[in-house]
Amino acid sequence: MRREAPAAARNRQPILEVLRPHLPAEGLVLEVASGTGEHTAHFASALPRLEFQPSDPDQGARASIDAWTRTLGLANVRPALALDASAADWPVGRTDAVVCINMIHISPWRATIGLIEGAARRLAAKGLLFLYGPFHRDGRATSPGNAVFDVELQRRNPAWGVRHLEDVVALAAAQGFADPAIVEMPANNLSLAFRRC
Ligand SMILES: C[S@@+](CC[C@H](N)C(=O)[O-])C[C@H]1O[C@@H](n2cnc3c(N)ncnc32)[C@H](O)[C@@H]1O
Repeated sequence: MRREAPAAARNRQPILEVLRPHLPAEGLVLEVASGTGEHTAHFASALPRLEFQPSDPDQGARASIDAWTRTLGLANVRPALALDASAADWPVGRTDAVVCINMIHISPWRATIGLIEGAARRLAAKGLLFLYGPFHRDGRATSPGNAVFDVELQRRNPAWGVRHLEDVVALAAAQGFADPAIVEMPANNLSLAFRRC
């Protein structure tokens, strides 16, 4: 049941290095859209004092996440939750950090709205919302590859597409998040670390 995504194998360590300094020493990290579960597994292995709550609306993804947890014997990973970011209520309580990797371009915009509103509801002051993925900046794709990717995404589903960084930052500001720390990542992706004010 374990699934593997080549991109996750490539980006999980660079993401961990950027994410780690933003995380508390202890507490609960909710991952939204965990996919195969490789990111949660990697982060939980490296950060055993943190507890991880993976989630995904897709049943096969949840089976993969739980299979990685079992295979690696990770005591600090909870069973995967069925969580749709766009849902009005999330089946989880207070959390210290919300992490979402490579979801907002491959879901309708309402999932991004739900993600940011849900994170604002679940995070205490100073809580972390961490996003990773491709973004347009200043009204433009940041690379020819991302421009092509955006067209392909919209061809697959007109509601999908690479999001504009400024739109995401404005949405987050409206929900009480400060301007994010932005890090340029390999393969023309960005990491955004937002703090709840
Ligand atoms: C491209 S995969 C990324 C998975 C993983 N985070 C990674 O980077 O390997 C996108 C994931 O988003 C999930 N997803 C799509 N729409 C969602 C939504 N509305 N709420 C939460 N997850 C969603 C899909 O089920 C899928 O697992």
